[in-house]
Amino acid sequence: MATDFARYDARHYETLSVADGYRAWSHLYDTQLDGNLDIVLLDRINSVDWSRVGEAVDLACGTGRIGAWLAEHGVTVIDGVDMTPEMMARAEAKGVYRRLLREDIRATSLPGACADLVVNCLSIGHIPDLHRAYGEVDRLLRPRGHFVLVGYHPFFLISGIPTHFKDETGCNKAIQNYVHFFSDHVTAAVQNSWLLAEMHERIVDTVWVQRDPPWRRHIDKPVSFAMVWQKPRSRLV
Ligand SMILES: C[S@@+](CC[C@H](N)C(=O)[O-])C[C@H]1O[C@@H](n2cnc3c(N)ncnc32)[C@H](O)[C@@H]1O
Repeated sequence: MATDFARYDARHYETLSVADGYRAWSHLYDTQLDGNLDIVLLDRINSVDWSRVGEAVDLACGTGRIGAWLAEHGVTVIDGVDMTPEMMARAEAKGVYRRLLREDIRATSLPGACADLVVNCLSIGHIPDLHRAYGEVDRLLRPRGHFVLVGYHPFFLISGIPTHFKDETGCNKAIQNYVHFFSDHVTAAVQNSWLLAEMHERIVDTVWVQRDPPWRRHIDKPVSFAMVWQKPRSRLV
């Protein structure tokens, strides 16, 4: 189902596990992510009325950037789940989560049907088993609830560029990735009878390149995507 990124790797940076990578990146993460990959996509979503969400779960909440965005957009009750304590300490400091659980997003201890909205941003490319992740989202969602998924674009991954960061010595480090093609997402979603409400792709444009000229070599290429899935009101058995 998932393809190991290693077969596409064009950069050959030292590759860290998720735990080691995000431990090392945690103190620089918020200063290095400016929202270009994900917030611009969240801003385009119109099938979710954020201010009417009762309870939300932010899976792979990291430093809480997305929890903060949700809170700014009127979501008042948010639970966060992540496996990297150094990232979670920063999420805690943002003060936007009702509770934070240090768990695997594929098997949380949250009760079933606890959320009107589940968000997962920039972590699905670290997950080898998409079906398990989608299955857990389905368990958490209430009928008619939404799943907002923002991911690093498979096109970019197969161009050979992994999730990576510069450490404080200026050395590039990659974090273990898996490639999921859009058909993999659709297959996993269809298994849960979800409906696709919206999809967007973030293309590197001239505005981005003017602000950050090294991105010129990627102009007109997609770097990230957002999908909004909706769980049906009921399922035929
Ligand atoms: C790129 S960060 C994204 C954080 C946040 N969603 C954001 O957009 O800023 C990826 C996060 O996914 C978490 N993560 C990756 N795989 C995970 C798993 N199986 N269970 C829990 N957290 C995971 C990492 O610990 C890290 O904090």
